[in-house]
Amino acid sequence: MATELFFFTSIPNLPFPLIKFPKHHQSLPLFSLAPPTISSRFKTVSSSKARPSSSTVVVHAVQEEVVQTPNSDSKVTPASSSKLVLVAGGSGGVGQLVVASLLSRNIKSRLLLRDPEKATTLFGKQDEETLLVCKGDTRNPKDLDPAIFEGVTHVICCTGTTAFPSRRWDGDNTPEKVDWEGVRNLVSALPSSLKRIVLVSSVGVTKFNELPWSIMNLFGVLKYKKMGEDFVQKSGLPFTIIRAGRLTDGPYTSYDLNTLLKATAGERRAVLMGQGDKLIGEVSRIVVAEACIQALDIEFTEGEIYEINSVEGEGPGSDPQKWRELFKAAKAK
Ligand SMILES: NC(=O)c1ccc[n+]([C@@H]2O[C@H](COP(=O)([O-])OP(=O)(O)OC[C@H]3O[C@@H](n4cnc5c(N)ncnc54)[C@H](OP(=O)(O)O)[C@@H]3O)[C@@H](O)[C@H]2O)c1
Repeated sequence: MATELFFFTSIPNLPFPLIKFPKHHQSLPLFSLAPPTISSRFKTVSSSKARPSSSTVVVHAVQEEVVQTPNSDSKVTPASSSKLVLVAGGSGGVGQLVVASLLSRNIKSRLLLRDPEKATTLFGKQDEETLLVCKGDTRNPKDLDPAIFEGVTHVICCTGTTAFPSRRWDGDNTPEKVDWEGVRNLVSALPSSLKRIVLVSSVGVTKFNELPWSIMNLFGVLKYKKMGEDFVQKSGLPFTIIRAGRLTDGPYTSYDLNTLLKATAGERRAVLMGQGDKLIGEVSRIVVAEACIQALDIEFTEGEIYEINSVEGEGPGSDPQKWRELFKAAKAK
């Protein structure tokens, strides 16, 4: 399977042509997210009625395809009222999907945003008990007041900027500042009682000196993401790192959330996971968001780093058991 590398999609006018990767051989289990589950989930914020439907589980591998019997044990993710999840980067492509999913699961969340107004545009008016928006720039340690983290049990960090110079670097919001210093500042501000921090990172961070990754790393994005990862690893906090391939599906930041979730009901739901930074390819932001949320509750993902891709096909939806199997299979490789 030849795979194209042209990730960090928000980069306008990439300064190099698309690069073809050599055929790579993986035999990882694949699942997918069922689109109707995603679009109906947001409605549960107000109606609390929609439930993911159980469907035939299709297990793929890159070289082969095996159809399994329906999984009658599929369970709906229970509401976890004991959690209070802080999302950093909740206005971004992955982050907004994370927040939407948390809302639909009745999980309380707190958002750390540079511009709190964006939360109202994206998520509508929510009561503060459910979704409390805090203003803060991760580059400024002074913004990260301990009060923001009071009671927070879990953190999902989806912050990022473009890999190459763009308007999003305005005000020195560069990879060095966001992916390294911002992550460092955020992690340093977290309470030691935290149950888990999930950091969204990138495939290729361990190979930033090698072609073709060195091209993506011309302005240091992979190097700084790796520094952020290392800081998380050494922090002593329980962590999981999710390294995404090139992101697809969004960001849809100009949509209201309901439209957004419907708009992203694409077909790239089958999930590939690996470890050791060998995976190359693309991944839907919907899949990444779901992986982050699922990892919070899977004890053996603590202290682990996973790479994630997705392709067309059926998959795990929001079924915790199927996600456990995916994470377990990735770990066993
Ligand atoms: N694009 C790809 O193909 C690709 C591939 C692999 C990994 N990744 C990584 O995956 C993650 C999610 O990507 P995405 O494209 O979904 O993200 P995105 O749309 O670029 O969103 C980034 C988020 O980070 C926030 N942010 C930026 N600078 C900040 C700062 N100084 N303080 C606080 N928040 C800040 C942004 O908030 P504002 O609204 O204030 O700007 C936004 O919410 C990122 O870490 C990205 O680098 C991306």
